[in-house]
Amino acid sequence: MSLFSKIFRRKPIEVSVRQAGTSDMKRALSAFDLTFLGIGCIIGTGIFVLTGRAAAVNAGPGIVISFVIAAFVSLFTAFSYAELSTIIPIAGSAYSYSVSGLGEIFGWIVGWDLMLEYLVGASTVAAGWSGYLVTFFEDTFKVTLPKSITQSPILFEEDKFSIVKGAYINVPAMFVAAVVTIILCLGIRESAGVNTVVVFIKLIVIFLFIFGAAKHVKVDRLKPFVPKSEGKDKYGVVGVIRAAQKVFFSYIGFDAVSTAAQEAKNPQRDLPIGIISSLLVCTTLYIATSVVLCGIADFRTLNVPSPITFALRDIPGTRWLQILVGLGALAGLTSVILVLLLSQPRLFMAMANDGLFPKSFARIHPKFKTPVYPTIVSGVTVMVLSGFLPVDLLGDMTSVGTLFAFLFVNISVIAIRHIDPHRHREFKVPLGPYIFPVLGSAISITLIAIAGKSTIIRLFAWMGIGLVIYFVFGIRNSKIQDYIDSVDQGNYKYEDENYV
Ligand code: ALA
Repeated sequence: MSLFSKIFRRKPIEVSVRQAGTSDMKRALSAFDLTFLGIGCIIGTGIFVLTGRAAAVNAGPGIVISFVIAAFVSLFTAFSYAELSTIIPIAGSAYSYSVSGLGEIFGWIVGWDLMLEYLVGASTVAAGWSGYLVTFFEDTFKVTLPKSITQSPILFEEDKFSIVKGAYINVPAMFVAAVVTIILCLGIRESAGVNTVVVFIKLIVIFLFIFGAAKHVKVDRLKPFVPKSEGKDKYGVVGVIRAAQKVFFSYIGFDAVSTAAQEAKNPQRDLPIGIISSLLVCTTLYIATSVVLCGIADFRTLNVPSPITFALRDIPGTRWLQILVGLGALAGLTSVILVLLLSQPRLFMAMANDGLFPKSFARIHPKFKTPVYPTIVSGVTVMVLSGFLPVDLLGDMTSVGTLFAFLFVNISVIAIRHIDPHRHREFKVPLGPYIFPVLGSAISITLIAIAGKSTIIRLFAWMGIGLVIYFVFGIRNSKIQDYIDSVDQGNYKYEDENYV
């Protein structure tokens, strides 16, 4: 068999369907749980930090329009995720769609790339969680936690490394990653339960902010809605678009819902509900928060680490709300870490099932019914990254990594509609397989292109490492050809594999 046919062989969809039907994982998640997992992963740094910062630096009150633009970008791709999750209802998310739609090498590249979203994303958010904890202690108890144990010793700023004097290890970041990892090992029901509680806390806090602060909104502060341009990407239409690119990060996470496919009670019906409704709920909350935030404070003052608390400082009688916002932010970031760290091991598992990762990554714990081994590997990696390394080095790659996966998911919709046009799809991308997937692809490419040269170089360097591993390990151990042969011979059986 030629190298060309090896790397482009596609995993038959019926194999994925059968793997889903015979999985050892516990089917415990309802549409409600899946929606909450989506909200758990989506609402985090974006609403608590980026709203104010992007308004101050780029968009003014026009940040609302930026959020709407970024929501549309995400929605186009969310349709694609929703359609594919109904016909390939297994845990690998974009990896599984690409390996069936485009071929093994594309699947591998997307799976490898998704680590930027899940592992690097979780590490960045864990480091952010630690920063919030320090601020929370200062604001609430007037206690300053020592820098030596709350910061990574290495910093990466403006493409340069430097040593942070007096900083050795980021203990809070490692702590939150460790706690989340333990919960995730214990069971999907337990993990979803913790996520639901944490999401309730952050939703209550956001509602309290929106309704509590709304009466202090001064309409004049929202005028002009899009301030006149002050050069480069400061305000004006260009500023609004630049802010849309920044706040795209706020929407990352709706796709993570699809990695819980094998634990959903009714994946074909509930995954599209979870993906699309979590996105719509979050978009509404982002818009309301931005309006209130820019209405209660001068948007030019909001370029600070915790803009919502900052905006409330001048409003008498809101001390309690400031403390709650701090708690809400900590809760918000915790659930983002939880869902990202839930997604990574399931991605590992899906790739290991197909032979592209070592078999141990596919093992399901007999009692907990979770992929304990890859969960621990993912958790420890996040602890090391967020505890010692400059996550900023990789932090901005989370968005490009995610956009790259979005691109392949959109293309996979078009490919699979051609490969397998008659398969029943519980959900279909509205208006056919071209309009939204092509728009989603085009916008993803544009946003990657404007991410900055050094980020793109790092993305390709990461892909290069991935390709070396694929040619050394993946291509030799891949089971895709066995799947194809057994389906061709009509004797594909689940028992043929030892993926548990
Ligand atoms: N969307 C997530 C956040 O805003 C990643 O933190």
